[in-house]
Amino acid sequence: MYKTANTAEITAEQSAYAKRTAALAFKIYGKTPKACVVTFGCQQNVSDSERLKGMLTESGYIMTEDMTDAQFIIFNTCAVREHAEDRVYGNIGTTKALKKANPDIIVAVCGCMAQRQSVAEKIKRSYPYVDMVFGTQVQYRLPEFLYKRLSGAGRIFDLTLDNGEIPENVPIKRDGTFKGWLPIMYGCDNFCTYCIVPYVRGRERSRDPEQILAEAREMISAGYKDITLLGQNVNSYGKGTDYGVNFAELLRRINALDGDFRIRFMTSHPKDCTKELIDTIRDCEKVSRHLHLPFQSGSDRILKLMNRHYDREKYLSLINYAKEQIEDVSLTSDIIVGFPGETYEDFKETLSLVKEVEFSSLFTFIYSPREGTPAAAMDDPVSREEKGKWFSELLKVQEEIAEKNISKFIGKTYKVLCDSKGSEDGFMSGHTSGTAAIEFKGGEDLLGKFVNVKVNSYDRVLLGTAEKII
Ligand code: SAH
Ligand code: SF4
Ligand code: F3S
Repeated sequence: MYKTANTAEITAEQSAYAKRTAALAFKIYGKTPKACVVTFGCQQNVSDSERLKGMLTESGYIMTEDMTDAQFIIFNTCAVREHAEDRVYGNIGTTKALKKANPDIIVAVCGCMAQRQSVAEKIKRSYPYVDMVFGTQVQYRLPEFLYKRLSGAGRIFDLTLDNGEIPENVPIKRDGTFKGWLPIMYGCDNFCTYCIVPYVRGRERSRDPEQILAEAREMISAGYKDITLLGQNVNSYGKGTDYGVNFAELLRRINALDGDFRIRFMTSHPKDCTKELIDTIRDCEKVSRHLHLPFQSGSDRILKLMNRHYDREKYLSLINYAKEQIEDVSLTSDIIVGFPGETYEDFKETLSLVKEVEFSSLFTFIYSPREGTPAAAMDDPVSREEKGKWFSELLKVQEEIAEKNISKFIGKTYKVLCDSKGSEDGFMSGHTSGTAAIEFKGGEDLLGKFVNVKVNSYDRVLLGTAEKII
């Protein structure tokens, strides 16, 4: 059992470093320094980067998107697939010239990929212009690392993964003004055989519900209208703690907070998803009518090899219950094509599941071997080319379903949160409580507001008329 309380001392220490860093960095650069935070990977990383930006702001830096204009460049990396890692190496490489032109700038690599011993060693050896590499559980120490390096300390490598306390009160600089991320837990204990996440994020640790509620209240009073709760497996929130709050209860407590806002969450694992959770979505008016429930494969044989702990039947019974209980529910999922040993027969089971459920949208991936995971050592006889063909077949099936789904929207009115400009001038775009985007005539003054929109037609996007601003 770990505790998350009383981390105030840890964050106060970092805050003191931040103040010293601010003074030192200003002296070294002779101006207010700029920091560029480059983020790869999932929402968890996006959320972590908001904390990195918060700490950098406290350390006297202003943020820039332009790497060539920054005195501090940090890559927050992802290791989930090989492609993600290749992109990071390419990006790190571009800082070599910047550093040569200006040796005072500092380059850092953190996040899931940095956590891997082999990656940290490669950077140590082959990327001498990288000043610091640190792992996922010590990101809160950025002000200290920065201070030490600016004071002339050697290159910093810290991959500590001790699954200790979750530091609370780390400063945050959020990217959005009305849509925001709220991490409720970190790490993962599931060890799906293909997945690197448990190795790079460490054990599952839930935040104190009081801390989560306090952050939610803060966000609501700052005007956030769309709050997404984050965790690798939100359904096991609270396990191994003495908080006495499970995920459904946490949702109910956030739902009960005052204000007009929406709650989203990801990701749910089918093995821990319960009818109680589905009932909670149904009963809580602020919780979005959306369930992201990755099934990965429709074949029971492959699900076993993946160590997923559910079968097709259990998955479909959850989906059918969600369809029965939640009106207009939007269902989305993740799928892996070409897991080692998967045959075309297995893949057909995935296709048939997709056809049966009729998901609103899918996140589909071709299996990518991750060194150190059990699946990477399994026999994988099917060629990449063949897997590519299966992948295209899956996309085609999903496209047909998406097209068929469109008619369900026409003529109905939805409450959307206006969140961006539309694809044509004079149009704005918003998302329903599910996952659909609808465009309608309107101005930028609608950004961040809830609008009732009646859907009239479809022309690459759903098009509607704004009826009422709420
Ligand atoms: N915790 C979440 C998913 C995190 S990773 C869950 O269990 O649902 C996001 C998605 O990436 C996974 O759902 C899976 O579909 C995909 N993924 C993970 N490892 C992969 C790998 N080695 N190759 C291809 N896709 C992978
Ligand atoms: Fe990876 Fe499985 Fe954990 Fe998701 S539940 S992060 S897929 S190990
Ligand atoms: Fe990537 Fe780490 Fe997320 S590996 S998908 S950034 S948890």
